[in-house]
Formats: sequence, C-alpha cells, structure tokens
Amino acid sequence: MLLNVNRVSKIFGGLIAVNDVSLKVQTNSITGLIGPNGAGKSTLFNCIAGYYPATNGDVYFKEEKISHLPANKIATLGLARTFQTSQGFAQMTVMENMMVIPKGQRGEHPWWGLINGKKVKEQEEEHRNNALKLLEEFGLLERKNDLIANLSAGEARIAEIARQFMLNPEVLLLDEPAAGINPTLQNQLVKILLKLRAQGLTLLIVDHNLGFISSLCDYIYVLNLGQNIAEGTPQEIFKNPKVIEVYLGGTA
Ligand SMILES: Nc1ncnc2c1ncn2[C@@H]1O[C@H](COP(=O)(O)OP(=O)(O)O)[C@@H](O)[C@H]1O
Ligand SMILES: [Mg+2]
Repeated sequence: MLLNVNRVSKIFGGLIAVNDVSLKVQTNSITGLIGPNGAGKSTLFNCIAGYYPATNGDVYFKEEKISHLPANKIATLGLARTFQTSQGFAQMTVMENMMVIPKGQRGEHPWWGLINGKKVKEQEEEHRNNALKLLEEFGLLERKNDLIANLSAGEARIAEIARQFMLNPEVLLLDEPAAGINPTLQNQLVKILLKLRAQGLTLLIVDHNLGFISSLCDYIYVLNLGQNIAEGTPQEIFKNPKVIEVYLGGTA
C-alpha cells in the first residue's frame, strides 16, 4: 500500500465538502476517483497533498503519517499533484517552468548558494539535463522555448505533468488531466501515463471522462456529495446501480 487515506473529512464553514472518506492506493496501480461536480474530489486531493489541513482523519504515505505536513515537504517525500486549472507560469517558457520546481523545493539557507557557488552550478546543470530528458519523454522538447501561454490546452496540461517529474515522484495525483483536451492529445496522455506506470509510477486520477478513466484504472472510487458511495474495478463500478443513478439519474 503506497497511500492510505483514513476517514478524512474537510469542512468549510458549515459545508462538509469531504465526509469521512477512506481510500487506498496500491503501489504501481492506477486508481481513479470519479463523481459529479462538487463531490469533493479536488478538496480531497488538497487534503492528501497538504494544501488544506483535513478537519478530521489521517493520510499515510509509505506508512508514514503525512497529514500534518506542508505541501512542499510532502512533495519532497515523493507525492506530487497537478491542479484542475493549470498552475504553470503562462509568461515563462516550457523549460523555465520545468526549472521552477527544484529551485522552489531546495529550501536551503539563502547564503548556501553564495558559499557553495560551484555546487549550485553543478546542480543547475543536473536539473537542466533532467528537464530536457523529461521534455523529450513527454513529447515537448521542440516546444521548450515556447511560452506556456502559446501552447494548446492539452500541451499545457502535459507540460504541467512533465514539470511534476522534476522531483521524481513515486505517486502522482492528477486532477482532471483530460478535461478540455482533444481526443488525439487525450490518447497521447493515456500512452504517457501507461508508460510512466510501466516505469514504476503510481497514479491517482480524478476525471469526468468515464472512457478515459476506464481505459486507465485498475480500481475506482466514486464520491458523491462528499461521501464515498462505491468502489471496485471499472467493470464493477459501471454496473453499480448507485453509480448509474448518480451519473444518469439527474443527481449529477
Ligand atoms: N476553499 C473552499 N472554500 C469553501 N468551499 C469550498 C472550497 N473548495 C471547495 N469548496 C466546496 O466544497 C465542495 C466540493 O468541491 P470540490 O472539492 O471542488 O469538488 P469536485 O472537485 O468534486 O468538483 C463544493 O461544494 C465546493 O463549493
Ligand atoms: Mg474538482
């Protein structure tokens, strides 16, 4: 078990956005999290990745309790996430965006760079080489000097995923990676994600596109109104009457 979310709740004022949700993500699996708008999926991601403190419950990553840690610390432990709306810097190039993460995460004393000038240069070189390798792997090498603002929505999404790999994560949480991108790029994204899984990555994916989710996931959890209403393999999920009601019965 790589990630264990144990009875997590998140309350905003009077609104219970996430209500006592538990889920488990097996090492090297692709796990899906689906549910209608407002179900609490993004909020749960924020609680797992340390962007919001959970009101109740705990999150364990590699057996270690992480629910009290800040997001940047959780990221250095090997848990990365992407956001529903792109967080990249639109007026920076694809390559510059790649270089932001290791700089932001290094977190050493500001004088460290002055005292260890040579080492900083070596590290930058290493990060640069790593970034180029990743951009090639993600099919974005030719776009490295283009501004994020000039990419298509799908390319920007893939650039954002590539950026997360600068920290070499063990598990990646993707919030609606296929939303608003054309079918060709969606297929490219499926291929990239399957390849990353083959290389050992574990994935937890939120998406509305049930075709996309079922083509990728080994196991799926379904949230509705903050609660976990079903879990199982894609086949089990898509014939579950509760899930059919939520998706087709007007509750969605
Ligand atoms: N920062 C916030 N403050 C107050 N309410 C929020 C906040 N973020 C989300 N919510 C509310 O929590 C509920 C779940 O939202 P969200 O997690 O974004 O759902 P989903 O990602 O499944 O569409 C919604 O009712 C939303 O309005
Ligand atoms: Mg959301």
